[in-house]
Amino acid sequence: MTDVTQVNEKISIERQGDIALIIIDNPPVNATGQVVRQGLQDAITRLNEEGTAKVIAIYAEGRTFVAGADITEFGKPPQPPALPDVYNIIEASQIPVISVMHGTALGGGFELGMATHARIGIKGLRVGLPEILLGLLPGAGGTQRLPRIAGIPFTLDMALSGRQVKAEEALEKGVIDRLVDTTPREAALQAAQDVLDGKLATRRTSELQVERDDKALEDTAAKLKAKQAHLFSPHKVVEAVAASSLPLTEGLKIERQAFLDSMQTPQRAGLIHAFFGERAVSGIPEAKGDSREINKIGVIGGGTMGSGIATSCLLAGIPVRLVEVAQEGLDRGVATITKNLEGAVKRGKMTAEQKDAALKMLEPSLGLEVLSDVDLVIEAVFEQMDVKKDIFGKLNTICKEGAILASNTSYLDVNEIADSTDRPQDVLGLHFFSPAHVMRLLEIVQGAKTAPDVLATGFALAKRLKKVGVLAQVCDGFIGNRILAHYSKTASYLVLDGASPQQVDDALEGFGFAMGPHKVGDLAGLDIGWMTRKRKAATRDPNERYAGDVADKICENGWFGRKAGQGYYIYGDAAPEPNPEVAKIIDAVRAEKGITPRTFTDAEIVDRYMTAMIVEATRVVEDGTAKRPVDVDMVFLFGYGFPRFRGGPLHYADTIGAKELVARITEYAKEDANYWQVPPLLQKMADEGTTFADLNKGA
Ligand code: CAA
Repeated sequence: MTDVTQVNEKISIERQGDIALIIIDNPPVNATGQVVRQGLQDAITRLNEEGTAKVIAIYAEGRTFVAGADITEFGKPPQPPALPDVYNIIEASQIPVISVMHGTALGGGFELGMATHARIGIKGLRVGLPEILLGLLPGAGGTQRLPRIAGIPFTLDMALSGRQVKAEEALEKGVIDRLVDTTPREAALQAAQDVLDGKLATRRTSELQVERDDKALEDTAAKLKAKQAHLFSPHKVVEAVAASSLPLTEGLKIERQAFLDSMQTPQRAGLIHAFFGERAVSGIPEAKGDSREINKIGVIGGGTMGSGIATSCLLAGIPVRLVEVAQEGLDRGVATITKNLEGAVKRGKMTAEQKDAALKMLEPSLGLEVLSDVDLVIEAVFEQMDVKKDIFGKLNTICKEGAILASNTSYLDVNEIADSTDRPQDVLGLHFFSPAHVMRLLEIVQGAKTAPDVLATGFALAKRLKKVGVLAQVCDGFIGNRILAHYSKTASYLVLDGASPQQVDDALEGFGFAMGPHKVGDLAGLDIGWMTRKRKAATRDPNERYAGDVADKICENGWFGRKAGQGYYIYGDAAPEPNPEVAKIIDAVRAEKGITPRTFTDAEIVDRYMTAMIVEATRVVEDGTAKRPVDVDMVFLFGYGFPRFRGGPLHYADTIGAKELVARITEYAKEDANYWQVPPLLQKMADEGTTFADLNKGA
């Protein structure tokens, strides 16, 4: 006979003879919110006071064991009991406690397991310490107990990478005692019985000895100092793990302090904004409606973009028909896709067999006619309206009814493209970022007539491709490239007025960008920007200060960047060096324009660059191109290498405040009132004392 007691709404105790099961039920991911913490503490205390059970087994209902602390509580006043205290009570239990973990036991969830006296993994389990990805560190004993269980180097690896360790590796490292293939409940009952029968050993983690490894600690600290000096919590991880050779209570105190210090940093706030933002972009009604079934995709164009898109689809297991006009282009496309997939094998993303299977799903073909049976076409040809309209006109007659017709255009008018068909409701923009099989951003561009289920299919596809789909409305450049077109001028103005390209790059890399804008330009090819400037020359605002003088002259020499061996920098076997010829060009342009160069501090460079980015980002929200500030933030995190720990341009804007931003823009406007204008929305926010976070909440 079973005997179930509800400790509170999330925790229950079930008695089966000498066995007590503690069951956690807090969907969706069994996070250790206050009610769970309280319930666990009460359950263990009650069972120890009663003293009738001889073994306790903890497991969780639902799709996963505990996925960690409840992140929504972070940044709010802490509610007792604190997680480390609950786990200390579990570890101190007089009755042996075992845990059965399934799904993803992460952060505070994995630490719960570590506080128990034996751990069982269910097949498919992954354990991890992802706190570092949130600007934190394990704060419930992980930095103290894992070294005792699996050693200091493994703890540093897990806590600094945040990687999820597969069950097999966890078993090999002694992190779990057993790996079984059954339900958590069955495993809990079986393991508990085995403890009673003396077939499964239990022990307190605090009683295990840590094998000291000062070299691993020193090497890691030095590496972090060199590579991640600007981050806070990684250094704290090393400090806390170093304390694991102290008695557990002392080590836990050091860990706790490091955790609380990390919690106070803007980096933690930025990273948690990124965590929820990644999920919020697809949490909108447009993403959630009925979608159309996609079983086969046609990709038009075997260039870098088309091949990347095709690779991305194949990686997700979706058959692709790749179309080109000439055999040569088709062969090049197939070769690129093969190379991309081989790269995925090298990076451990797939096995060689999986690569071969993926390539079997690729059907290279000549001519659009073969697209009559695909469910979705993604056009990725040259950015020319006439060419696109011609293709869409043909697709209109070739494709089956209900097929979705998407353009990967980065700036052209999706409505004009849609109107070249009789079915504009089936047309949308799917703007991938290069390399398309790596970059996670997908701008989903809604045309004026795009049907709701077509839009929802765009989001469903993003999910299948493991991408972050963000809704954008039609305009030149959509969300990302439109903002980029504006702020990248600032980098050029800074150079014209006195900074060197290298100083601008260094300052922005110091801010956290992986690469400064001139290095990015060299990598992408300076000819791309040159073409865009030529395209826009006829429609350029005559009052606008021209930003392209230096870049145009570099391009006139054919120095298109990395692929040409030189651009802003010179490339060879050694690390890139600033190009002395570019310095001469800059001097000449300054002289020609009568500019007396001035000095800029790195801080001013960052302020100007970021303010320009925020200005256009605000306008994009103001005119509805992006639905909310968080959508802009995710575009920049997943498509433009924006430092994740800063949360995105508009999350970062809140750390400055609208008032200060308006003051800065007003000051800069004294030099160039055309470029530096205060967006009305930002002025309103400054007047009312509101933030972009308020706008995200719909305030
Ligand atoms: N706290 C609160 N909510 C959480 C959460 C958490 N730890 N983890 C996930 N959620 C929420 C998500 O926001 C999402 O909510 P919506 O449905 O409203 O969008 C929902 O749970 C489902 O999450 P996913 O969509 O991400 O589901 P998934 O199946 O794709 O992934 C997961 C599941 C792998 C657990 C993933 O959610 C994840 O990685 N979660 C974060 C894990 C984590 O970082 N844990 C460490 C927390 S910090 C900590 O524990 C500190 C400490 O040491 C005390």
